[in-house]
Amino acid sequence: MNVLIIGGSSDLGKQLALAYAQSGAAIHLTVRNEKQLEALVSDLSIRTGAAVQGSLLNLEDLAACQRFVQQLSPLPDVAICVAGYLGENEKSMSELDETNRVVFANYAGPVALLNALALPMAKRRSGVLVGISSVAGERGRQSNFIYGSAKAAFSTYLDGLRNWLFQYGVHVVTVKPGFMATSMTANMKLPPLLTASPQQAALVIKKGIAKRRNTIYVKWMWRYIMLIIRWVPEPIFKKMKM
Ligand SMILES: NC(=O)c1ccc[n+]([C@@H]2O[C@H](COP(=O)([O-])OP(=O)(O)OC[C@H]3O[C@@H](n4cnc5c(N)ncnc54)[C@H](OP(=O)(O)O)[C@@H]3O)[C@@H](O)[C@H]2O)c1
Repeated sequence: MNVLIIGGSSDLGKQLALAYAQSGAAIHLTVRNEKQLEALVSDLSIRTGAAVQGSLLNLEDLAACQRFVQQLSPLPDVAICVAGYLGENEKSMSELDETNRVVFANYAGPVALLNALALPMAKRRSGVLVGISSVAGERGRQSNFIYGSAKAAFSTYLDGLRNWLFQYGVHVVTVKPGFMATSMTANMKLPPLLTASPQQAALVIKKGIAKRRNTIYVKWMWRYIMLIIRWVPEPIFKKMKM
């Protein structure tokens, strides 16, 4: 099996790569920082003995995302778009560059990349595309609505892509991890019961992909927490501090 991981330097991406490599898959990682590339590729291949290759890719360069997929050989069996960028909400509101960073890393880049993968996979009539979205996309909240709205758009895109690709036998998985203890959340105080380690998350996601789940919540409680959050009437919700 060939597995492509976009965002191989992320804590979750590293654990996904490790889990797939340990089960015998050939791994193709992308990162955006040249310095990290060699170290990540050699570390994974030494630890697992798997065939590992790496490429540089910045999701802010949409044309590069298309070119990257066009020169991919072989086309992966499973492609997982892990990359994402949280940013600070107020900075994302006041600085256009920061708004763009959030929109490109969480929506525009992943869409350019998955569109480019979807077309040849549809032609081949096999494959699995996986998007790491977020529960933050289920309802806009004052603490992170720029990021949340980009993830909401990404989740909606994945819904539509799944619907379109069904006729071609290609499956699409939406992952909404809930809290994970990674570098993205390093300065937040997270409730332990609702927080997964990247190792735990990778195993749950890998299992869910194998079972061809449509949507994966890493910790089951998140499905119900978000159900309640979506049900709170707007006149009450708008006064809440979340
Ligand atoms: N941690 C959580 O609680 C949580 C909750 C819900 C959803 N998620 C989602 O889970 C995924 C994994 O995040 P994580 O928690 O493992 O965070 P992380 O360690 O901060 O990883 C984020 C990754 O995205 C990459 N990235 C950011 N902007 C990029 C760009 N323009 N082009 C290419 N790569 C880019 C980063 O690359 P660099 O290493 O070069 O910065 C890094 O590999 C993300 O999609 C995130 O939104 C996380």
